[in-house]
Amino acid sequence: MTMRPLMFFGTTNLDLCFNVDRLPTPGETLIGTLARNPGGKGANQAVAAARLGLQPYFYTRLGDDEAGRQLFLSLTKAGVRTDAVEICQGEPSGSAMVMVGDDGANMIVIDPGANLNATALTIDRAAAFIEPHAIVVAEMGIPVAALERLFELKAEKNFELIFNPAPVRPGLSAKAWASIDYLTPNQSETFELTGVEVLDFDSAANAAEKLLKFGPRAVLITLGAGGAYYCDESRSFGLPAFPVKVVDTTGAGDAFNGAFAAFLSQGRAVRDAVRGAMAVAALCVSRRGAQDSMPTAETVDVFLNQQTVLELE
Ligand code: RIB
Repeated sequence: MTMRPLMFFGTTNLDLCFNVDRLPTPGETLIGTLARNPGGKGANQAVAAARLGLQPYFYTRLGDDEAGRQLFLSLTKAGVRTDAVEICQGEPSGSAMVMVGDDGANMIVIDPGANLNATALTIDRAAAFIEPHAIVVAEMGIPVAALERLFELKAEKNFELIFNPAPVRPGLSAKAWASIDYLTPNQSETFELTGVEVLDFDSAANAAEKLLKFGPRAVLITLGAGGAYYCDESRSFGLPAFPVKVVDTTGAGDAFNGAFAAFLSQGRAVRDAVRGAMAVAALCVSRRGAQDSMPTAETVDVFLNQQTVLELE
């Protein structure tokens, strides 16, 4: 099978994860346990793809500090190609405070650090690693000016673009939205972009119609336990989520995006890639952490075979 090259553009953070019985209310002090995990949406996505056996390039900006060294190591260990990673003198690495309750739900605050200083110029340097016929994945943690440049390069480099608008920020031009092939928001990002509350496939269809008007070729909305909804000009479908015991939802969307890109790059059809990505996200939420919870291709195959048996029973 010929694989298409894959490159991710996004953020990397050191996640300070507090596991607590339940998420706190304002003014409340709770006791929890702390774990320091590699994270950041772009890094999680690239690691998800690497765990599935791909060798993606990744562009990110790390500080020249201890956290940066740990985060770099975590990428290389997973098999992510780090040639385009920038180590930035005098800048701190990004960090995130992640609180995870017993039901797996989380609250996250980010200090972007070096992630915030990506520019059109740094994108131009990294773009040298976009290979012919590549699939490129970007998330919205990197500044809009840098994203604009990346999306502009699509005409020249002729890549396919998956854009995960997380976290949603204002300011992306109409031209940039129109260059997206697959737009992949979750429910809250969809609400921010369209004002439509996505609760099921009907409301997802309504929101997707609005999102298609922004200009992407296809929209793929993730609904967490509610599954995923795909829509382009000629077809639409919704797939239910796989039932799993949720331990920690951190990185679930990243698992989905990284895996969707990986499966497309392996030549799978869109529906099959969405199903596989949902399996990867289901496995991710059944373990703690972000990058640490990304499954291998073998684990995903076993899981999907089990699901097929359950569906036939
Ligand atoms: O999507 C999960 C990620 O969001 C975490 O790893 C954290 O770093 C934040 O960027």
